[in-house]
Amino acid sequence: MNIGVLTGGGDCPGLNNAIRAVFHRAASSGHTVVGIRDGWAGLITPGKPLTLALDRARVDAANTVGGTMLGSSRTNPMKKEGGLEAVEANMKQLGLDALVAIGGDDTLSVAAALAARGDRVVGIPKTMDNDVWGTDFCLGFDTAASTAMDAVDRLQTTAASHHRAMVIEVMGRDAGWVAMYAGIGGGAAAIIIPEFEFDMDAICRRIAERQARGEVSVVVVAEGVTPPGASAETGAVDAFGHPQLAKKGVAEALASEIEKQTGIETRWVVPGHILRGGSPSLVDRVLSTRYGVAAVELIENGSYGRMVALRGGEIIDIPLTDVAGKNHRVDRAFYDMAARLS
Ligand code: F6P
Repeated sequence: MNIGVLTGGGDCPGLNNAIRAVFHRAASSGHTVVGIRDGWAGLITPGKPLTLALDRARVDAANTVGGTMLGSSRTNPMKKEGGLEAVEANMKQLGLDALVAIGGDDTLSVAAALAARGDRVVGIPKTMDNDVWGTDFCLGFDTAASTAMDAVDRLQTTAASHHRAMVIEVMGRDAGWVAMYAGIGGGAAAIIIPEFEFDMDAICRRIAERQARGEVSVVVVAEGVTPPGASAETGAVDAFGHPQLAKKGVAEALASEIEKQTGIETRWVVPGHILRGGSPSLVDRVLSTRYGVAAVELIENGSYGRMVALRGGEIIDIPLTDVAGKNHRVDRAFYDMAARLS
């Protein structure tokens, strides 16, 4: 078979490991693999598919490298007149027998639409936000959350030296997984995520009490939260209708409220895309590899329209139509557990 592979949406470490695994697992059965450039953008221009030739040297060289050797974009063929037809025509022109789409909810919702039209597509869940429904972990999350935890660790020592409070805003549009893991791992004083209401006054009281005991307070907040003083809207939206949350000023608004209520000098930081960069962690390299292998096995079995997923340590597969339009969000018990740790 001739198998296409593409990466769509925000990049993250682990994508290259998944591409490498797709390549090697396919090659071991005698299949060929062609890279599609820039996500769905690489298939959306009629008669002009954008490809990257893959070979052993290229995929192996990218094993330790973050980002995606294929390039990525937030292109939505469903928003363009004849977009899905163009994708199908380009798949045909390239002689693709099947396509592996690696992406988050947006990319996978396009894959689901194509599969519903009878196209031979399978999906791999990726996003540092970890919010793809149906899987315990998306590739890219472990590296991003570990990088965020490292930032929290570093803020703890500078905060202690200056008797300050610190607010760090991490990515997480609809789900607060990165904030939760970085906050628990880094010993944060409070974790604020979009899933649950938060009590600003209670958080400020807690910070003041901690300060009185000589303790440092680092607050981790997910970008999807709207604290008092931050703007709910940011104007520009992407092809899938998502606003640019980094412009909301979440961390800044929280820091000034903490300073106002407690009188404690408070600094804020937004590591932003730093969390999406760097070399993939061990966990991401292995998870991405397992996903890539499983995706090719779905294709070999003729199980199209499905996404590989991790459940309780096992790789399973679920229908893409179950995934599209839903979010994997932090549950109350996990959130409440973390709230008792400071
Ligand atoms: O990929 C998800 C994500 O990291 C979100 O957490 C964040 O809001 C968004 O991407 C940022 O996207 P962009 O790279 O387009 O600024």
